[in-house]
Amino acid sequence: MGRRGEETKKTDSRIEELDRELSRMGIRIRDTDQRKVRDEVFDEVTLLALYKLANRKVINAVGGSISTGKEANVFIAKRGDDLDCVIKIYRIRTGNFNVMSDYILGDPRFASIRKNKKNIIFAWTKKEFSNLKRALDVGLPVPEPIAFDRNILIMDFIGKDEVPYPQLRLNPVDDPEAGYIEVLGLITDLYQKARLVHGDLSEYNILHGGGKLWLIDMGQAVTPDHPSAHRFLFRDIQNMNRYFGSWCETLDEHEILRGIVGEDFFTP
Ligand SMILES: Nc1ncnc2c1ncn2[C@@H]1O[C@H](COP(=O)(O)OP(=O)(O)OP(=O)(O)O)[C@@H](O)[C@H]1O
Ligand SMILES: [Mg+2]
Repeated sequence: MGRRGEETKKTDSRIEELDRELSRMGIRIRDTDQRKVRDEVFDEVTLLALYKLANRKVINAVGGSISTGKEANVFIAKRGDDLDCVIKIYRIRTGNFNVMSDYILGDPRFASIRKNKKNIIFAWTKKEFSNLKRALDVGLPVPEPIAFDRNILIMDFIGKDEVPYPQLRLNPVDDPEAGYIEVLGLITDLYQKARLVHGDLSEYNILHGGGKLWLIDMGQAVTPDHPSAHRFLFRDIQNMNRYFGSWCETLDEHEILRGIVGEDFFTP
């Protein structure tokens, strides 16, 4: 057997071993719905990270899949005393890594990482954790981040009875004007209090349930000193104006931007 073949065999047996360890802890990856998802998502690095999180007792069971996105898979899971949580796993092999580097490389918080694919994805995961934390710390409605390891983020489950709250696009608000004002308030607080721009805000990344709107998917969020922060903020505002524009009157996009960034607008 060539060196390559031996490497593959070693990796396979390490994966099986981790898989057995996880099963022993009650986490059955083998039950994951389709084989393709299992092979693409649960590679050696991911299983090792899951193993560590299970060992630290952060999670104690992985349930069904909630979503398969462009770069991440989202699963419902259990932690502690039977609380629901969410596991977001960024795929290492098939993730959209080029887009990620654009956001990471302009962010001074991540200026010094070595720029290979794995590192970028790990930094991205950490960035989503810290973005959620920053938003939560100023009282914004986002899932509480619980832990992260490598490409895995554990956060609070936003939903009820194991059913996630639907995305805004699938569950529009009853009073569009109030909803629009609520969203503008969230964007403003995110910028002024948490010092973040979401950067991918849309009716897909807002959940609606329990009588309010929740911001999710914050991996790409950047600080105001990112060179493209104001462009991203303007795009978020445009997206929300487009969405709410078919239900109610909206305000001028430039004025909203000026109102949010205030003095920042004139700093070079
Ligand atoms: N904390 C959470 N609680 C409940 N449901 C969630 C939570 N986080 C994500 N989801 C569900 O999973 C879906 C995808 O999550 P998210 O938007 O974070 O990733 P994504 O869009 O797949 O990312 P990508 O942009 O990489 O494709 C959401 O639309 C939502 O339905
Ligand atoms: Mg999303």
